[in-house]
Amino acid sequence: MFENASWIVHPNNNLYEPVCFFKKLSFKKQVKKAALNITALGCYYSTINGKRVGDFVLAPGFTSRKRVQYQTYDVTKDLKDESTLEILVGDGWYNGKINFGVASNVPKALICQLDILYTDKTKESIVTDGSWMSRRDKLRFAELYDGEIYDSSYEDSPVNARELNHDKKIIVKQQGVYVKEQEKIKPQSIFKAPNGDTIIDFGQNLTGYFEFTVNAKKGDKVEFTVCEELDKDGNFYNENYRDAKARFEYICKDGKNTYKPRLAFWGFRYIRVDSFPCEINDESIHAIVVHSDMKRTGYLESSNALLNQLFSNIIWGQRGNFLDIPTDCPQRDERQGWTGDATVFCKAAAYNYDVEVFFEKWLTDLKLDQGKKGNIPNIIPQTVCWDWSTTENTGAVWGDSATIIPYQIYKMYGNKKILKNQYVTMKRYLGYIASTTKKRYLWYGCEQFGDWLGLDAPSGSYRGSSNEDFIASVFYYNSVKIVAEVSEILGKNREKYDTLAEKILEKTRKTFKEYKTQTECALALYFDIAEDKKAIAKKLNDMIISNGNKLKTGFVGTPFLLHALSKNGYTETAYNLLLQEGFPSWLYSVKQGATTIWEHWDGKNENGEFWSKNMNSFNHYAYGSVADWVYEEACGIKPKLPAFREAIIAPKPTDKLDSLSATLETRNGKIVSKWYHKDGKINYEIETPVKSTIIIGEKRYDVEKGKYTF
Ligand code: BGC
Repeated sequence: MFENASWIVHPNNNLYEPVCFFKKLSFKKQVKKAALNITALGCYYSTINGKRVGDFVLAPGFTSRKRVQYQTYDVTKDLKDESTLEILVGDGWYNGKINFGVASNVPKALICQLDILYTDKTKESIVTDGSWMSRRDKLRFAELYDGEIYDSSYEDSPVNARELNHDKKIIVKQQGVYVKEQEKIKPQSIFKAPNGDTIIDFGQNLTGYFEFTVNAKKGDKVEFTVCEELDKDGNFYNENYRDAKARFEYICKDGKNTYKPRLAFWGFRYIRVDSFPCEINDESIHAIVVHSDMKRTGYLESSNALLNQLFSNIIWGQRGNFLDIPTDCPQRDERQGWTGDATVFCKAAAYNYDVEVFFEKWLTDLKLDQGKKGNIPNIIPQTVCWDWSTTENTGAVWGDSATIIPYQIYKMYGNKKILKNQYVTMKRYLGYIASTTKKRYLWYGCEQFGDWLGLDAPSGSYRGSSNEDFIASVFYYNSVKIVAEVSEILGKNREKYDTLAEKILEKTRKTFKEYKTQTECALALYFDIAEDKKAIAKKLNDMIISNGNKLKTGFVGTPFLLHALSKNGYTETAYNLLLQEGFPSWLYSVKQGATTIWEHWDGKNENGEFWSKNMNSFNHYAYGSVADWVYEEACGIKPKLPAFREAIIAPKPTDKLDSLSATLETRNGKIVSKWYHKDGKINYEIETPVKSTIIIGEKRYDVEKGKYTF
């Protein structure tokens, strides 16, 4: 593909100024089949005779700079004898602020090949070259953090595109899931804020854009700025977007104007209407939700309305942040593939949605961007500004994305190929730890993120007070154990890794004798580090009770806390944490009106005041990892064999809820686990498509597929 095509650029490329490349096509013979192959260094939006080609938003997506995916569209029906093919290209993820302000020196570029098969069986390929024309577009500005500026009256004189000598070997076939428009959301309300601003509330923190229609005079302006939260007085607040302007500007033509952005996206619940040619109403505008086109597989429902809202927030956290790559957040000047966030959320993500292909693609980028020493950049795809391949550290948990995520994908979907593809990467990662640690058989003395955002952080720090060397060593141990397992699955010798794991365990136990924080206890229990589990589980339970049934954990402790409790006889304490409504807790944010998962437990205090503007996203999925506890422990659905070829269903009910149910569409059919209280008894309704072990209390039932009640 693209052998005869050239990368083309505008002869005077300007950063953030989109360029339209176009070609007039004329066919003398009848077209039987036509396939359009496109990719860009940047993001593209293509049309034939004004009609959009395909529905991939922000194509070609976000990958390592070592590769760029191309897409193929069947355009047979779109071509007429005389046609115009236009492809608008913006800087997208390739260039500019998204790379922490550092622009690459490669201009936005397009490459394209239109393959035609005529009815007389002859073939022709029309490819990008210097005969293509290029012009600056009415879309005058497009940048992912700052938004779009569109001027209806702008006209530019076309000039020939320039061919760019740039590597074509980086071009690969589309591997990931298309990013698509998913849903339209009408305004829930439009109101005047106390300070006089007009604000549209969509009732849901979401990721995507908006579409509006307005009758206007030439030169009239539409101007929007977006935000996630209102301040305590009910006024617009977007200081937490930091350097992302998150704006939109549109200069109207005479008559009817209908527009939706093409080369930007925003994370928002509210739009401040900075100008609009007439009174705005809910017929004038709707929001459009955009994310990777994943199939929903998991559903949770309970008798508690706040808990159901939390389940919804977790789903929306995933919808808002699975936009071609797993991002930390969709709104502020980051939107990066922070690996630690993905590591802790990947299990919940894989219950909620089918994320097999989504992660397969991202892990390929992780493999490509792995550093020379085996280190994993903390952001995948790696940005231009930080060359982690040679200079930067890898944090534990963040780097463990290399082992934990492929292994999770294998367990959920039975995908051995992903293990095969990632095996060398996993081993090199272990090699990196061994080469960087200051104490053999531990991960010790290196720069770490620790229990990121743990509430027991020393003042002014983002890192909880748990011992960072302990956390790193536990995850080192866990990754070595995963590599041992994976070695066996791939038919290789696991012994070396088993021996290494034993040594790490021994040294970790010897070095870290005491577990002082909730996170340390939770990790020691969950990862089988603690020798006297009973004592440590009691200690953890006591710590939580003496803290008023409240947690103090951050990104690292939180995903394992409830598991550690319920696996060691303290299910009720786990439920107390899940159902806690006071600060800090999951339901605290729900009671504060959250519609997604917050980055900080204390993102907003009870008076409606915000935590520091420096780091305060209201759409960060990490703490949504609690969903995996609800699926696996509270409802008890776990894979016994990969892809749920056999299942374990071991629900753990509580008196604190009247009912709870999980439905999971696995690769081997639908599993349902529901329990509810009736007439003083707990009733269970279980449905399994495969041979399963059902555990109810102390009783164990080995069953064939079917529906069961207990
Ligand atoms: C991101 C986090 C990330 C962290 C690591 C933050 O800026 O938003 O989610 O994991 O940095 O340092």
